Amino acid sequence: MSSLETFQAQRTQLVGLLVSGSLEGFESVLDWLLSWEVLSWEDYEGLRLQGQPLSHLARRLLDTVWNKGSWSCEKLVAAIQEAQADCQPSELPACQDLRSLHPAQDLQRHRPALVRRLYSHVGTVLDLAQEQGFVSQFECDEIKLPIFTSSQRARRLLDLATVKVNGLAAFLLQHIQDLPAPSSLPFEATECKKYISKLKTTVSAQARFLSTYDGAENLCLEDIYTENILELRAEAAVAGAPQKSPATLGLEEIFSTHGHLNEDADTVLVVGEAGSGKSTLLQRLHLLWATGQDFQEFLFVFPFSCRQLQCVAKPLSVRSLLFEHCCWPDVGQQDVFQFLLDHPDRVLLTFDGFDEFRFRFTDQERHCSPMDPTSVQTLLFNLLQGNLLKNARKVLTSRPDAVSAFLRKYVRMECHLKGFSEEGIELYLRKRHPEPGVADRLIHLLQATSALHGMCHLPVISWMVSKCHQELLLQSRGSPKTTTDMYLLILQHFLMHACPSDAASHSLGPSLLQSRLSTLLHLGQLALWGLGMCCYVFSAQQLQAAQVNPDDISLGFLVRAQSVMPGCAAPLEFLHITFQCFFAAFYLVLSADMPTASLRHLFNCRRPGSLPLARLLPRLCVQGSGHEDNSVTALLQKAEQHNLQITAAFLAGLLSQEHWDLLAECQVSRKALLQRRACARWCLARSLHKHFQSIPPALPGEAKSMHALPGFVWLIRSLYEMQEERLAQEAVRKLDVGHLKLTFCSVGPAECAALAFVLRHLRRPVALQLDYNSVGDIGVEQLLPCLSVCKALYLRDNNISDRGICKLIEHALHCEQLQKLALFNNKLTDGCAHSMARLLACKQNFLALRLGNNHITAAGAQVLAQGLRENASLQFLGFWGNKVGDEGAQALAEALGDHQSLKWLSLVGNSIGSVGAQALALMLEKNVALEELCLEENHLRDEGVCSLAEGLKRNSSLKVLKLSNNGITYLGAEALLQALERNATILEVWLRGNSFSLEETEKLSLRDTRLLL
Ligand SMILES: Nc1ncnc2c1ncn2[C@@H]1O[C@H](COP(=O)(O)OP(=O)(O)O)[C@@H](O)[C@H]1O
Ligand SMILES: [Mg+2]
Repeated sequence: MSSLETFQAQRTQLVGLLVSGSLEGFESVLDWLLSWEVLSWEDYEGLRLQGQPLSHLARRLLDTVWNKGSWSCEKLVAAIQEAQADCQPSELPACQDLRSLHPAQDLQRHRPALVRRLYSHVGTVLDLAQEQGFVSQFECDEIKLPIFTSSQRARRLLDLATVKVNGLAAFLLQHIQDLPAPSSLPFEATECKKYISKLKTTVSAQARFLSTYDGAENLCLEDIYTENILELRAEAAVAGAPQKSPATLGLEEIFSTHGHLNEDADTVLVVGEAGSGKSTLLQRLHLLWATGQDFQEFLFVFPFSCRQLQCVAKPLSVRSLLFEHCCWPDVGQQDVFQFLLDHPDRVLLTFDGFDEFRFRFTDQERHCSPMDPTSVQTLLFNLLQGNLLKNARKVLTSRPDAVSAFLRKYVRMECHLKGFSEEGIELYLRKRHPEPGVADRLIHLLQATSALHGMCHLPVISWMVSKCHQELLLQSRGSPKTTTDMYLLILQHFLMHACPSDAASHSLGPSLLQSRLSTLLHLGQLALWGLGMCCYVFSAQQLQAAQVNPDDISLGFLVRAQSVMPGCAAPLEFLHITFQCFFAAFYLVLSADMPTASLRHLFNCRRPGSLPLARLLPRLCVQGSGHEDNSVTALLQKAEQHNLQITAAFLAGLLSQEHWDLLAECQVSRKALLQRRACARWCLARSLHKHFQSIPPALPGEAKSMHALPGFVWLIRSLYEMQEERLAQEAVRKLDVGHLKLTFCSVGPAECAALAFVLRHLRRPVALQLDYNSVGDIGVEQLLPCLSVCKALYLRDNNISDRGICKLIEHALHCEQLQKLALFNNKLTDGCAHSMARLLACKQNFLALRLGNNHITAAGAQVLAQGLRENASLQFLGFWGNKVGDEGAQALAEALGDHQSLKWLSLVGNSIGSVGAQALALMLEKNVALEELCLEENHLRDEGVCSLAEGLKRNSSLKVLKLSNNGITYLGAEALLQALERNATILEVWLRGNSFSLEETEKLSLRDTRLLL
């Protein structure tokens, strides 16, 4: 390849390099190119248009350089290297050489060195130049704008000198010569060093321990941190193209240069459900940085928590945010701040819990000055957009509901945090319980109780399991089944710790609960008030107002907030947002003065006709308690939907039969409790019906299908928490759909358990589509109870391995209705082939099996072929992207010779060559059913295609033969043409992406229009 071709081939990579750093990096590449005269002044001006995204500029630069020929291209690569190495540019030549006849040209020739030399003196030099009349006040102000970094200011001054013909260039050359040579890189400056060291100490102190929880234990993050599944959000699938699994990332990869949604954005978004480990992930990142283990490309890391930031009432500037709300520089504040502004690419800001920030993201209000104060929300939104501290990296974590399309516009990369894998759960428990035997027994317990095991994927539940390990291992009454069970267990644990005399009972009896009822109600009231006010950290006054006393605090559910604003007393927060919801639910169940009707707001469910009135006259709807703003109704109306959903699920769980006796003892009025239960039941059933009613009618000829609306999964979860068969039965009685779609709904094992609990009561079978979730093997196990009402199960991209699928099939053998399984993009290997073969052999009404993009080899295909021989019903068989190879293709082909029903076979991308093709050709000679054979992306050459052509001559069922992207030449196509002359059934032969010249392509398509070239 010529160097120009190489250059073009590397284009994407070069764009990546040019935009991967900051604008600063890009401009320093331009400096070098100007100095080497690769770029003319006109070229340069065209490349520094303000307001253009960096990626556009980078591409334009590549085009400009490419047009100039290979020497220029080589120089660009060299310039990128220079800029990346950030090495000291060659020294300025001696004085006399600089007193040249062409000062403007010299400014360009020595530009990299001049920028470096001018760097920290732009202000002084500008003032001097103004004094001597070389520049105007206006020009001075323009250059000094705070949006520019020091190097950018230096460049702007040099640019001005290039176009001004009044001697400014000569003046600059002379003065720059007199400036002190920079002795070392500026971040070596002692102020900065001191600040970095203070920041590291502060951050490390905050990050070292996990929340102190009940105060009895100090969990060292380093000791128990367990890797969490982090997936890159893939771009929306290209229509028709099979999509690769989303890439799993290591924490260190969140700043990598790949997978960007928007190259010009600085914000990395980490999305995950409550308890999935977002805060812990950030804490880990902070610790790795502060202890020098990783992320050292950042000199400064500033951690913030949104729940705390939103409490800042007074206007804030970037400077006060960093210094007053994170870490104060003891010396040289101005220099340190200037350094931060000049080197934004060495700065990282993290914002935890955007879902807990009560302001909605908007890009309406622009704020660009790092010095000027503004409201905390405007400040945060402008930081995220890059209007402030452009090129400083930001990491934002959030629960999914709070991420809007508006916000996504400013996101560079989006990752999803999925919780622990099965191995992760085990590893975590082993780290938590190094003492002999305990972890083993716990793991054994989890394996025996899959409902609990499923819940443990959420790290917060794994933490609870380990916290309550003694209770769990001793428990004789069976393990927790629902989330509410688990939270009650931990409540028991805390109560017993606070009151050891009751420890002998080993269960949460009414007496234990009653003894601390007032504490629980105080906490509940605070929790509910907080949810309503979107307040998740509580000051001493707020605690006092909610009557939370030190005794209540000592129970251990309120802990000191981790990140503390310097100089303030650390506020308290609930151990985790899910505890805040749990206590709020507790209060809603047990509080004496809670009007039952308020509960409707928890389920977003109002009495028919009450809505307009409620909007007009909110006060009228407030019954009972006197203060309208703090009434339960008002609070529930104001709370965030995702917190209400969790609270509703806990409420349903607490009102379940299972916990009735426990709560009935505590409740003053049994009647009120009964009313509340009736109300919760009514709301659940009604909300579900509303969902069902909103399903549009079926299109003619298609099954009526329902795509789960937001909230559907939570209603199902609440039903599960209630554990009432009759209610579940009643709830889905009116669901009349043929296809239930729950793609991208964060369905994990716990949700699967809930879905199965409810859906198994369906009267008519459905196709259940759960593509793109995190079902996993444990989730599959949870789904088994509803398998008998599934006519099809779609589980694309769900992290399922042989173990899960073998269990599923064992069960499926007895499910008459189930006819289709789609398992694209999972972790299947030959290990599940026996089960698959059994399924085919035993279920003579089975229609479709899709196994694309798994890891099945020839051995697996051979086993599966055995099942195929005994099967007479299968119509669709998909193997896209496995590795069956020639031998596998042979085995399948032999089994399919006499197959009566298979219409569609895909062996795309399976490394099949001539031998496989020959076998398939023989199959075509005998087979009378197959209509479509997909063999794209294999190793087929003319020899194989000639065999296939022979097969085609004797075949009368095949309509479509797909051979794109193989190594076929004109010879092979010729053979196909001959076959087509004798075959009237074939409608299309796909041949794109093979080795035909342009003329050949034209010639071939003229000969037979059935060839698609
Ligand atoms: N990677 C991890 N390793 C060990 N424990 C974890 C991990 N992630 C979360 N946890 C545990 O789960 C709890 C809840 O996690 P957290 O990070 O607060 O979740 P989120 O911020 O997503 O709601 C933590 O307090 C910690 O005990
Ligand atoms: Mg969190």
